[in-house]
Parts: sequence; C-alpha cells; structure tokens
Amino acid sequence: MIVYEDIISGDELLSDSYRCDELFNGCLWEVEGKWVVKGGHIEVDIGANPSAEGGEDDEVVGDEEGIKVVDIVDNFRLQEQPAYDKKQFIAWVKRYIKNLTAKLEGHKADEFKKNVEAATKFLMSKLNDLQFFVGESMHDDGATVMAYYKDGATDPTFLYFAHGLKGVKH
Ligand SMILES: *[C@@H]1O[C@H](CO)[C@@H](O)[C@H](O)[C@H]1NC(C)=O
Repeated sequence: MIVYEDIISGDELLSDSYRCDELFNGCLWEVEGKWVVKGGHIEVDIGANPSAEGGEDDEVVGDEEGIKVVDIVDNFRLQEQPAYDKKQFIAWVKRYIKNLTAKLEGHKADEFKKNVEAATKFLMSKLNDLQFFVGESMHDDGATVMAYYKDGATDPTFLYFAHGLKGVKH
C-alpha cells in the first residue's frame, strides 16, 4: 500500500486504497469518502485476528449503534477546522501555494504553478460548501484537505492539492 504524506508536516493524509481522480491536470485529487459505522455489532465480526486487537472489541459489543464516521477522516485522523470565508481562504491558499512551491523542484514546481490558479478558482466557486481538515499534527503550514457533498450525494468528496503529497510505500 502507498500512504500519501503531507510533504510539509509529514502527516498521513490518504492512501492508494481510495479511488482517486485527477482534476486540473493532476493539480487536485478528487477522492470519494464514505460514511461508515465504526464499532457496534457491524464490525465486531471482523475479528479474523482477535489477539492483535488486544480485546478492544469487548468494549463495543452491545453498542448496537456504533459510531458513524467518514472513513478518510477516521483513518487519517483528520481534524476539522472552522469553515474559511473568502478572505480567510485567499490568505490561506496564497500562503500554502508559496510554502508548497518552495518545496517543489523542477518540472513539478512548473506544473503546479501552471495549474494551481484554475484549481484555486474551482475551490473558490465551491467555498460555501467546503469543509476543511488538517492533518493529525495540526501543523500551521501543513496541507488542508477539503471536502464537500456533490449534488444529492450522501457521501463526501475530498479534494487534495496533489503536489503537497508524497507517496510512501508501507
Ligand atoms: C510558510 O510561509 C510563511 C510565510 O512566508 C513562513 O513564515 C513559514 O515559515 C513557511 N513555512 C514553511 C513550513 O515553509
């Protein structure tokens, strides 16, 4: 499996076990998240390897409801942030683009610069619908992951600035 880490903070943000589409020539990755029930009776019978879990499952037996979580948020311990208004978004994105460009080399930097404006305009057009998440460490200058619900969708779609990610084999 490949785990994608934030090149600035090192936080794990995504893995290749999620289906991923490229937008704006690969500047943004679009990934389908999913609401899942964690704990409760639905997952208890996963116990293919009970010893590895250290009996943790015992705690959730009897909790018939479980907890509803979004898989990507839960798996990568993403931290939701208050929504950005237009001014905050522009301030954040300018800073992030600058920070990220400084970390990119050669054609990756060119590719990013060429496509990031269109990608940013697209995000601006969805601003009122976007949720914002940061990685586990909540690093000040780290990547922000965005999510929104497409028309009529019950599961969220996540958006990542692809150049801010580094694939690491696990
Ligand atoms: C990001 O940019 C700001 C402002 O230019 C700078 O103070 C900060 O150190 C940068 N962070 C990283 C991780 O490069």
